Parts: sequence; C-alpha cells; structure tokens
Amino acid sequence: MTEPAVLEITTPGGGGYPIHIEPGALRRLPDRCGTYAPAHRYAVISDSQVARLCGPQVIASLADAGLAAELIEFPAGEWNKTREQWYALSDALLARGFGRDTAVVALGGGVTGDLAGFVAATYMRGVPVVQVPTTLLAMLDSSVGGKTGVDTDAGKNLVGAFHHPAAVVVDPLVLSTLPRHQRCAGLAEAVKTAAIRDDDLFGWMTASAEPLVSGDADAVGELVHRVVRHKAAVVREDPAERGVRAILNFGHTVGHALETLEGYTLLHGEAVAAGMRVEARLGEALEITEPGTAARLAALLAACRLDGEWEGSPRPDAVVEAMSHDKKARGSDVRCVLLSRIGEVARDPDGCHTFALTEAELGPLLAAALRPDSDA
Ligand SMILES: NC(=O)c1ccc[n+]([C@@H]2O[C@H](COP(=O)([O-])OP(=O)(O)OC[C@H]3O[C@@H](n4cnc5c(N)ncnc54)[C@H](O)[C@@H]3O)[C@@H](O)[C@H]2O)c1
Ligand SMILES: [Zn+2]
Repeated sequence: MTEPAVLEITTPGGGGYPIHIEPGALRRLPDRCGTYAPAHRYAVISDSQVARLCGPQVIASLADAGLAAELIEFPAGEWNKTREQWYALSDALLARGFGRDTAVVALGGGVTGDLAGFVAATYMRGVPVVQVPTTLLAMLDSSVGGKTGVDTDAGKNLVGAFHHPAAVVVDPLVLSTLPRHQRCAGLAEAVKTAAIRDDDLFGWMTASAEPLVSGDADAVGELVHRVVRHKAAVVREDPAERGVRAILNFGHTVGHALETLEGYTLLHGEAVAAGMRVEARLGEALEITEPGTAARLAALLAACRLDGEWEGSPRPDAVVEAMSHDKKARGSDVRCVLLSRIGEVARDPDGCHTFALTEAELGPLLAAALRPDSDA
C-alpha cells in the first residue's frame, strides 16, 4: 500500500475515530478494541454466514488477549434488518447480563453494521461499537458515517440513529470468501466516488480493475483508503445533508428506480452502476456533461464486471414514474446529480449540486439514455 494504514475521521461534535486498513488487521482486533473501546465484555454481533466463516476465530483472538467476548448471531439477509431482529439481539444481550460496560463488535456486511450499530446506539442508552466490515460495500461505505438502523414495511432505513463507531477495522483479506458478484457490486460505490471527485482515482481504478475484481488485498486496501477519505471529507463538509453531500447520490436517482422496479433482485451496486451509465448519458444529452464521459464510465464499469445492462429491461415510463416517487424528488421535479466531466459534478444555475428535471423533459431523454443503441 502506498498510503499509511490509518485514516482519522473527525465527527461534527469535534470527536473522531480511526479507520485501520491493513491486510491481516483482524489479528490486531483485540488491541484495537482494548484501545478504542475498552469494555468489561464484548458482544460480537454477526449474521449467520459471517459468524460461521470468522466468528470463532474472532472470539478466540479476543479471548487470547484476555477480553471477555461472546458471539451473538442473527439470520443473514437484508430481510432480517428489522425491528424484530433489533429486539431479539437486544434481548439476547439482556438475557446474557451484558451491562453498561459493554462494547459491541459489528462483524459483517452492511446489514450487520446497520443492525448491530443500532443495537449499540440504543442498548443501555448507547454503548460503543467497533465496526469490522466484511463486504467491500461495508468497507467503502456503510461502516463510515455513523448511520445505523433497520428497514420497515414503509421503506429501507426508516428507523435508526446516528452512532459513530469507536473505531473501524478493515481487513481486506476477509474478502477472499465473498462471492465475486458481491465484491464487484461493492466496486460500484468506488467508481461513483472517482466519477464525482477524483479523476486520478478513476485512472488508477481503470489500471487496477483486474486485481480489484479478484480481491487482491493490497489493491483493495488502497481503494478503501482513497474512497473513504473522500466520503469522510464530503460528510464533514455537510453533516446535515443540506448541500454537497447530495453528490454521493450520483447514479442513485435512476439506480433506486431500477432497484424498485426489479423488486430488489439487483444488488444495490449493480443498480447504481446502471444508474450511473444512464445519468451520464442524460448529462451528455443535456450538454452538461463533457462528451465521452459516459463511454469512459461504461468502460470502467465493464472492467469491474458491472456491465449487465440492467437498465435495458424496464419500460422508460415506468422508470420515470419510479423516479418521481423517489425521496430525492422535491415538488413535481426529479432531481439528479450530473457530472461536468469525470472527477467533477456540475452545478445548476443556482449553484445547486442537483438538477431539476420535469417529467415531461425526462421521458424522451430517459428513453434514449436507457437504451442508447436501440435505434442506431
Ligand atoms: N449505514 C450506511 O451508511 C449504509 C451505506 C450503504 C449501505 N448500507 C446498508 O448496507 C446493506 C448492504 O450491505 P452488504 O451489501 O454488505 O450486505 P450484507 O451485509 O447482507 O452482506 C451480503 C452477504 O454477504 C455475506 N458476507 C458478508 N461478508 C462475507 C464474507 N467476508 N465472506 C462471505 N460472505 C460474506 C453476508 O452474510 C450476506 O449474505 C444494506 O442494508 C444497506 O442499506 C448502509
Ligand atoms: Zn449506494
């Protein structure tokens, strides 16, 4: 790795926490827990899949270091990120007599991080959490920023709390067991970060796509470092989500619509990849985005094995309809982040980071952007 392995994140309240990124970092977890989240007992919360793959090893290493730790698991899958699992986990902690001097270790993907983080945020009015992300998506995105919570019937992530971790420990070696399509889906958020803020990173990813796709630990470590630094900077600039933080939604206006229409059979990263392609083509059609940008983006996504053309199947009017229902739509317009070029987001005439598009203008533009080759 060319970068130092520790990234310091500052939080709006003036505090902060470190992110340790290093192949083999998991071996040093007891050390990190002892330093950043000293506690009488540790509740290691994992989903059933991750608990099987690395639970015993983590518990043993904490025990070897003299830390009292117990593994508490819940069934894997997004559909278990619910209030019911939050009750069940909180009750399990209570039944085992975990007191105020407890720290939670959230060992798993984004579902575990959000759910275990929410348990930590509320247990005894809040105990520390150490985030140990085991999917690329969780390493790049969900373990940083302090958002925790659960899904409800009314929508995803609607009940939750901000609860910053005491520390984040990223060990790229744990990705070796993650299925490739999950790893590739995680790369979509990295491509997004490069597209909105960092042309150099975009170039590096293009050159490093093969090692990234195969999960090479050094390449992944460097990627996490470079991407998380951007996310942290954007969040720091706009903690209340009133301005620049909107740029993190590039690809997500169309992406969320595709996710909804495909009934969540697409992974989030796959939907975002398709959404970025469409939004880049939209920007070019509106002469806001530099010509050639959509092609460069599509080429990097293809190198990351995110070229499923998921945007080609739904009907354009259904996509417009789904976009209008998305939470980023204000009033009757749909708002969309558009690039000026790779590495830079365009501003609308009012200086806003999103562009308002009426349903009437969106329809024909989107029809062309969803299927660019259809009438060629
Ligand atoms: N809090 C935030 O800021 C934020 C940001 C983005 C996404 N999210 C949330 O993240 C969630 C998605 O996260 P995800 O994609 O990591 O899903 P996930 O946690 O469900 O993990 C995906 C699958 O991979 C398995 N898995 C995890 N690590 C593994 C490993 N090392 N080897 C083998 N299998 C492994 C899990 O058991 C699961 O079956 C969503 O709920 C989303 O809302 C939160
Ligand atoms: Zn996303």
